[in-house]
Amino acid sequence: MTHPTPLYLDNAATSYPKPDAVYASVIKYMRENGASPGRGNYARALEADRLVYEARKAIASLLGAPRPSQVIFTCNATESINIALKGYLRQGDRVLTTGYEHNAVARPLKKLEDQRRIQVDRVPCTAEGALDMESVKAKLQDGVRLLAVSHASNVIGCVTPLEELVAAAHERGAAVLADAAQTAGAYPVDVTAVPVDMLAFTGHKGLLGPTGTGGLYLRKGLELSTLKEGGTGGMSLSPFPPDDPPDRYEAGTMNISGIAGLRASAQYLLDIGVDAVRAHEARLSGLLLDGLESVPKLTCYGPRSAENRIGLVSFNIEGHDPHKVSMRLDRDYGIMVRSGLHCAPEAHRLLGTAPIGAVRASIGYFNQPSDIERFVGALGEIASLPPD
Ligand SMILES: Cc1ncc(COP(=O)(O)O)c(C=O)c1O
Repeated sequence: MTHPTPLYLDNAATSYPKPDAVYASVIKYMRENGASPGRGNYARALEADRLVYEARKAIASLLGAPRPSQVIFTCNATESINIALKGYLRQGDRVLTTGYEHNAVARPLKKLEDQRRIQVDRVPCTAEGALDMESVKAKLQDGVRLLAVSHASNVIGCVTPLEELVAAAHERGAAVLADAAQTAGAYPVDVTAVPVDMLAFTGHKGLLGPTGTGGLYLRKGLELSTLKEGGTGGMSLSPFPPDDPPDRYEAGTMNISGIAGLRASAQYLLDIGVDAVRAHEARLSGLLLDGLESVPKLTCYGPRSAENRIGLVSFNIEGHDPHKVSMRLDRDYGIMVRSGLHCAPEAHRLLGTAPIGAVRASIGYFNQPSDIERFVGALGEIASLPPD
């Protein structure tokens, strides 16, 4: 049997392919530099330092952050969220969150409920991810110290109204942590226009960088207790971490090979513009939503319009197990999507799809309309098969 050309539609898990400049930049650093940044004073170490600075600067530009030093590098959004929650929350604090958070937010909060007796409350929302803003405001009134929300759901696809939430939270004295794992690089994020206090991002999804990269934007003046301590390359006589970001939060040798790739991907996105990426993905999402409507017995979850969602769609086909749909797509059509709970069980409870989950197709900047056509065609054939 000849294998069909592979079609990757799992960009919400990690983006593929990456821009050529990303591969080239990783290899160039590894082959031609190879030094540890922030540690030595020989030319190559200084060049590695420069590379990290340029990556920070490019990411700061993409996020609208005033200063590169406000961007702390981590190994993924999960680490960033852990630094934010565990560094910010104190014994007994109240936290408000949504009912569609990824486990990257939900699990650290659960641990802090047990360890620091924090109180976590969830905002009611619809199956399309629409939050009840009156309830948000009422709940914020109750001495909430942090609002922790995804900028967009990795299951429902809805975009959170961050601007409104930040205004409501700040008016009532609460800080805001935004989990931008699904938006950074693929959907406009501007921490100056929408002044979140902390914003976690990952490098390997919409930012088109290598896995093992990510970061946390921190509002100026906001100091967190550290999650890890160790060598930072400077102030070595002190037994304590430095006070200033980013060094305070970046103990240990960083993933400089990954950062080299992230610098290239951030530059690539700055050159083409996140608005152009968003426009392309919104167009493809529209085609996908329209196409899915034509597939018999298929239920699509989340907002109806591509305007209110990011480039992913979760769905189920009546009588067909989502895992089997995903396996058939791969085996018979060469199409890669992700089935299951997508590490966001609350979102699936909201949709009524727990515990089995759903199939999720997620678009990337390098997909084309013909990919959507091919995918919809394959689903039509699968839907016409006898039920499992
Ligand atoms: C909404 C959301 N938050 C957090 C994460 C965690 O990202 P990472 O695995 O890069 O830490 C993901 C990844 O799937 C996500 O979709």
